[in-house]
Amino acid sequence: MAAKQVKPCLVLVLVFSLLVFVSAVSKNRIKSLHVIKELNRRGPYIGLITVFSTEEDAFFATGSFRSDPKHPFVDLSGRRFRIGKVRGRKAIYVRCGIGMINAAAATQQMLDLFDVKGIIHFGIAGNINNSMSIGDVTIPKQVAHTGIWDWVNTNGAVDSADVSQLDFGSYNVPKGNGSNLLGHIGYSKEQFFSESGEPNIAESLVWAKISPHWLQLASNLEGMKLEQCVNSSLCLPEKPKLVVGLRASTANIFVDNAAYRDFLFKKFEVSSADMETAAVVMTSLSNGFPVIVIRGLSDLAGQQQGENAVKKFGSLAALNTAKAVLGFIDNLPGHAY
Ligand SMILES: *[C@@H]1O[C@H](CO)[C@@H](O)[C@H](O)[C@H]1NC(C)=O
Ligand SMILES: *[C@@H]1O[C@H](CO)[C@@H](O)[C@H](O)[C@H]1NC(C)=O
Ligand SMILES: *[C@@H]1O[C@H](CO)[C@@H](O)[C@H](O)[C@H]1NC(C)=O
Repeated sequence: MAAKQVKPCLVLVLVFSLLVFVSAVSKNRIKSLHVIKELNRRGPYIGLITVFSTEEDAFFATGSFRSDPKHPFVDLSGRRFRIGKVRGRKAIYVRCGIGMINAAAATQQMLDLFDVKGIIHFGIAGNINNSMSIGDVTIPKQVAHTGIWDWVNTNGAVDSADVSQLDFGSYNVPKGNGSNLLGHIGYSKEQFFSESGEPNIAESLVWAKISPHWLQLASNLEGMKLEQCVNSSLCLPEKPKLVVGLRASTANIFVDNAAYRDFLFKKFEVSSADMETAAVVMTSLSNGFPVIVIRGLSDLAGQQQGENAVKKFGSLAALNTAKAVLGFIDNLPGHAY
């Protein structure tokens, strides 16, 4: 139908609905969206996502982030997206906040609103693998969301489609007859929607795979020099290492429990546990963007004697992570990433 046949009253209705829509959006948000539009004309950017202040402080302390003189940041949904350059590359940085909801929301915003070419996600994590040490940096090849459970009754059976099972009864102390009112949990798969999949049809997914071309670039970082000391009196017993190609796990659970740590290592063969990676990776892949994950190991996730080491070594793990991030950015080719 030709445009001129559109009735004026329809146009009015459209304008009116637009006004209603606009008035529901806060002034600050509209301002931010305008700034983003301007910034995008100068894109593309690299998207950088951390989780909390320890990681952010270590990254900014390297002095490699040069803020944009005109628009150093844009605030949106309560988060501050910082605009600038890292090692001469245009970059947008956000600290998403702890947990998978924050991680997925911030990643989706980064990809939808800003002209970014891909996501570098970095931070600290719990060490699940006894062959890895505090201070080491892991750049995993894949990550599982290990927090989707079918929690079944004491006498119930776990769904046969579940990828793994945990029986609370086998952790009783003393052992007894192995019955426990918490029963069993079965680990479910994720429902993964993506640009490359059938529209509106979710794929069952256990392992979200890091973009292979970025993982390849990251492999150049193996052997890089990392920091061993927090200060003049507190050092790690060994030189930290950077390892590419292990497995990571994510759930909305801070793991500080030796038995559960052991379960994760044996059943999923993961080397690290955190609370955001799977969300950032799945969201990036879902939207068709490359993603890399760089996590420094800050603690033993429950394997330690006494207090969790994250307070003592968190800043060192975050510093080594930041160094690896800068190394990765140096390795990115100048053209499309
Ligand atoms: C296991 O032991 C508990 C406590 O003694 C008891 O209540 C329960 O019935 C026992 N379960 C089985 C399956 O024997
Ligand atoms: C080194 O760091 C540790 C942990 O933060 C702290 O307890 C200690 O006082 C520091 N030592 C020096 C010399 O700064
Ligand atoms: C644990 O870490 C070591 C050292 O990086 C690695 O060789 C090994 O493959 C890891 N184990 C698993 C199950 O990934």
